[in-house]
Amino acid sequence: MADGHTQPLLSAQISVCYAGKPPVLRDVKFEIQRGEVLGLVGQSGSGKSTLAMSILGLLDKKHSHIEGEIDFHDSDLLKLSERELRALRGRAIALVLQSPLSSLNPALKIRTQLKEAWRAHASGSGEDCIHAMRTALQNVSLPADDDFLRKYPSQMSVGQAQRVLIAMAILHRPALLIADEATSALDVITQSEILSLFRELNRSTGMAILYISHDLASVAGICDRIAILHQGAIVECGTTQQIFDDPHHEYTQKLMAAIPRIQSSAGNKTHAATAR
Ligand SMILES: Nc1ncnc2c1ncn2[C@@H]1O[C@H](COP(=O)(O)OP(=O)(O)OP(=O)(O)O)[C@@H](O)[C@H]1O
Ligand SMILES: [Mg+2]
Repeated sequence: MADGHTQPLLSAQISVCYAGKPPVLRDVKFEIQRGEVLGLVGQSGSGKSTLAMSILGLLDKKHSHIEGEIDFHDSDLLKLSERELRALRGRAIALVLQSPLSSLNPALKIRTQLKEAWRAHASGSGEDCIHAMRTALQNVSLPADDDFLRKYPSQMSVGQAQRVLIAMAILHRPALLIADEATSALDVITQSEILSLFRELNRSTGMAILYISHDLASVAGICDRIAILHQGAIVECGTTQQIFDDPHHEYTQKLMAAIPRIQSSAGNKTHAATAR
């Protein structure tokens, strides 16, 4: 939950276009408060990943153009050098993507991959590294023993692999974690477990999360606020309650209407997403 600081953790106003194409993001303005879970919801192609990549400075500069500002920790991310961005990525801002098994290197043991992620931003002893790896694995409810650390990605379930990626992302206790469709490839039970894990980590560490999804129903349980992205513009942003109880924009209403409803024995209709 947001902790009451008045200064947002991240405040952005950006426009982005890829070479030779009309703008993908048009003057998109949003803020992420410290400790907040902000959902970014929009259909495929609306520009969600472009927005995530803009924050992380991962857009290919030769083939894209970005205008505006992204203020994070008192610096404008768009003005940082590649070296400064590298120091920030994976440490202050971390990313978790959709396909855990393709995001992990199949040829390397989990121990090696976690170690590399830790060494990228820390210079402590081997013992410090092992301690950090075990703590991160415990935080995502995975076994933190040698047997598990010796595993290869192919020896894990997709849910376990996603937990490993989340462990990697939280190794350096980032202030902001960006989850881009991080549960979209998972079955519903695993999806719900990983969503709960994100919420738990947000509560226990105070880390803010930008939770990106095409699925409004799936974000309902974990987001404090939701921003709706439609054709490259944020058409509505409000608390999860407001978006579900009183969606203002026509497109948000359309998204809401697309969520399956369940009927209780008393005859009341409830959105499946908010029924728990
Ligand atoms: N590197 C690129 N070069 C040119 N166009 C791109 C590039 N990356 C994305 N686009 C285009 O920009 C638009 C937004 O893409 P983006 O990947 O940001 O959408 P998205 O909301 O993340 O979609 P999805 O839900 O499918 O992941 C799309 O029309 C896409 O084709
Ligand atoms: Mg995307």
